[in-house]
Amino acid sequence: MDVTIIGCGYVGLVTGVCLAHTGHTVRGVEKDAKKLKMLLSGECPIFEPGLHDLLRETQQSGQITFTDNVKSAVKDAEVVYLCVGTPPKADGTVDMSFLEGAGKEVCDALAELNTEFLTTIVVKSTVPAGTNRKLHNFLKQQTKANVAVVSNPEFLKEGTAVADCLRPDRIVIGGESPEAFRMMRRLYDTLVEQEENFITMNWESAELTKYAANSMLAARISFMNEMTILCEHYGADVEDIRKGIGSDSRIGPAFLRAGCGYGGSCFPKDVAAMEHISKHAGYDNLFVNAIQTVNKNQKKRFVDKIQEKLGRPIKDATIAVWGLAFKADTDDIRESSAIDVITYLLERGASVKAHDYKGMDNMKQLFGDKVEWCADPVTAAAGADAVALCTDWPQYTTLPFRKISATMNMPIIFDGRNCLNRDVMRENGFQYYPIGRPPVEQHLRLKQRV
Ligand code: UDX
Repeated sequence: MDVTIIGCGYVGLVTGVCLAHTGHTVRGVEKDAKKLKMLLSGECPIFEPGLHDLLRETQQSGQITFTDNVKSAVKDAEVVYLCVGTPPKADGTVDMSFLEGAGKEVCDALAELNTEFLTTIVVKSTVPAGTNRKLHNFLKQQTKANVAVVSNPEFLKEGTAVADCLRPDRIVIGGESPEAFRMMRRLYDTLVEQEENFITMNWESAELTKYAANSMLAARISFMNEMTILCEHYGADVEDIRKGIGSDSRIGPAFLRAGCGYGGSCFPKDVAAMEHISKHAGYDNLFVNAIQTVNKNQKKRFVDKIQEKLGRPIKDATIAVWGLAFKADTDDIRESSAIDVITYLLERGASVKAHDYKGMDNMKQLFGDKVEWCADPVTAAAGADAVALCTDWPQYTTLPFRKISATMNMPIIFDGRNCLNRDVMRENGFQYYPIGRPPVEQHLRLKQRV
């Protein structure tokens, strides 16, 4: 089918490239001149594993092309994706101007082309209940184009976005037009393995499905994070509990890993939006309040523990923070736990050295010279009074721990992602504090600071 993607940011580009890979003819529209230039020369403007290779492949085969011209891009389009920003406004509602602007531009171009066929306009953005209906009504009033709006919420995870897009658990389509539903079913034909995984519903249900999914996942994490308090009090191990409950098929194993809090561009924003839309509906959503409060507390508790277990006052201490991105395999630091952890450490007077495999440049923009930026984790730990691990980069699990222990001022590791091996920690002479798991506390080889 002929597909146009308006906005080649994260979601737009992944969607466009994956649809091109499945055989559709895709035209991407990007108005940002710098980004367009990169795309035209085959460069990938974002870091996402596997995306660059797929972009190159689909561009070379001519399945995907890029332009800044909406009119030429929608000429043959059966389906047009609007992948533009829907930033929250100060009052918590969504700024619809980009969505309406892009939708109107597409409809004006279609009206001029005078095509009698239906064009399906797809909204991928996470938007409050009622937004797609509003956009549909707005476009119907503004133009004569024959269009139907559908909501198709996005469930991509950063770092595995290409695989998530090519092998989705389910595809949710909200709308009112049976013809548009049929077009979307045809478009996703190669991705739908079982018919029940292609789910159609009204706009509002699709919009709320997205908030419900992310809030449910964030709730599972906050629930396990709350369990770590009980585990630490009673000497239980949250990892054993995770296995113990995750093996119950009614519960399932995913998103039960405790740690120093969730972050990213979606969970914090969507849970907060759920709170807002609940208020708008006239009630205080106690459940989503609790998810957020637990997440906030978890980051503070992590720093409280560092302060409590350190061998010296925190204001005299140097802490090495390993991991700045909100999770491994991304350079994205939005709402990353490391931001709060570093902020609390600096507020309490500690000196901070920091390392990340991809997120360092982004974090530098936030903290500038308040933090010492280190090219590798070994350098960051050298001379430090403790390491605080905030991101589960697998590389951190295979470091030369004997050398690290010998070069630290005090060999203490606070593992905010429970990803290091406690035996390796013990054998290399560390005090080791995971979250919600028994610590390794052994006699420390305390050194005098020179
Ligand atoms: C999330 C949703 O998973 C995805 O469906 C939606 O489209 C966008 O938001 P993403 O933000 O890319 O995806 O990352 P995800 O892998 O879900 O992790 C989010 C945060 O939760 C990270 O900070 C991660 O470290 C944390 N997390 C995840 C945990 O603390 N424990 C877990 O068990 C899983």
